[in-house]
Amino acid sequence: MGCIDAYNRSISYLRISVTDRCNLRCIYCMPEEGIPLKPHSELLTFEEITKIVRAAASLGITKIRLTGGEPLTRKGIVDLVRMIASVPGIEDLAMTTNGVLLQHFAHKLKEAGLKRVNVSLDTLKPERFRRITRVGNLEDVIKGIEEARKAGLTPIKINMVVLEGFNRDEVVDFARLTISEEWHVRFIEVMPVGAEAEGNLGQYVSMKEVREEIERALGPLIPASLKGSGPARYFRLEGAKGTIGFITPISEHFCYQCNRLRLTSDGRIRPCLLSDFEIDLKSAIRSGATEEEIAEIIKEAVRLKPERHQLEASSFPSGRAMAEIGG
Ligand code: GTP
Ligand code: 5AD
Ligand code: SF4
Repeated sequence: MGCIDAYNRSISYLRISVTDRCNLRCIYCMPEEGIPLKPHSELLTFEEITKIVRAAASLGITKIRLTGGEPLTRKGIVDLVRMIASVPGIEDLAMTTNGVLLQHFAHKLKEAGLKRVNVSLDTLKPERFRRITRVGNLEDVIKGIEEARKAGLTPIKINMVVLEGFNRDEVVDFARLTISEEWHVRFIEVMPVGAEAEGNLGQYVSMKEVREEIERALGPLIPASLKGSGPARYFRLEGAKGTIGFITPISEHFCYQCNRLRLTSDGRIRPCLLSDFEIDLKSAIRSGATEEEIAEIIKEAVRLKPERHQLEASSFPSGRAMAEIGG
C-alpha cells in the first residue's frame, strides 16, 4: 500500500520534525551558537500536525517517525504521540531522539502509544561525548536507553555517524556491544547537509571500510532482518543478541527504494532530505484547507519527489539545517 510516485516507489512513511530546537550542539550538525530558531508561532500546532497525519493516512501512509531538532524538547510531546497514535491507519509510530531526556519520558511515551525509539549516540567515551555534543552527558543517554528497554520501546536502534578523527576508532566497540546487548547499532555515512556541510566532507568514512574493520576484529557478518522502514541493511555477528546496520547515503544511495516524505517543523512538505525543494502546507492549513485539500497537496509532493539525490554533482543543499528537516 501507499501512494505511488513518478518512479513507481510506494510512499508509506512520513518523518515529522516537531521542533527545530535541540538540547545538544553536535559538531557535525550545528555551530556552537546554534541555528537561528523559528518563532513558536511558525511551528505547526499539535492539531495541525494531527490533521496532516490524518490526511497522509488517507493516502496510505502507515508509518510516522517524530524527529527534530530534539523531539523531546517540544512541550507536550507525549500528548502529540497520543493524538497521532489514535489516527486510524497508523501502524508504526516511532521517534528518533538524542536520548538525553529519554529516561524521564520513556514510560509515558510508551503508554501514549509510541512503539519504538532510535537513539543517536556517536561515542561511548564520556569526555568525547562532551566534545562531540559540546554540552551533553553520556550517562543521561545510557540511562535513557535502559529506560526505553524497560518500557518496551523496542527494537532499540542506536545511530552512530562515523567521523574520521572523532569516533572512527570506536566502531569495533559499538559492534561488540551487539553481542551481549539487544541493541541494534547502525553505522551511518556522514552527509554534507546543513550548516556544517563542507566540514563534514573531510570526515567522511565509507561503510565498506567500517564493515571490513568489524569483520577483521569480530568475525563474519551474517545477513539479518529487523523491523523498520528506513534505509539500513542489517547483519548479525555469530551468536549476537543485537544486529549491526549500515546506512550508506553516499557510497551506495538507496533512493530507488525511498519510501518517505518529510514534514519540517515549520510546516513544509519536503519530498527528499537532500533536495531543498519543499511545498508549503502550513499556509494552506492556516487558511482553512480541509483534510481532503491537504491530502491533495501531499499527493502533489509525492508526484514531485525527485528520483534521487544529486550529491555527486556537489551542489549539496545547505539552505536548511538537519535540525529543521529532521535527518
Ligand atoms: P527505521 O524505521 O527504524 O528503519 O528508521 P530510519 O532509519 O528511517 O530513521 P532514523 O531517523 O534513525 O535515520 C537514520 C539515519 O538515516 C539518519 O542519519 C538519517 O539522516 C538517515 N536517513 C533516513 N532517511 C533518509 C533518507 O531518506 N535519505 C537519506 N539520504 N538519509 C536518510
Ligand atoms: N549525516 C548523516 N547523519 C546525520 N545525522 C545528523 N546529521 C547527519 C549528517 N550530516 C543523524 C543523527 C541522527 C539522525 C536523525 O541523523 O545522528 O541519528
Ligand atoms: Fe529519498 Fe532523497 Fe534520501 Fe534519496 S536522498 S533516499 S530520494 S530522501
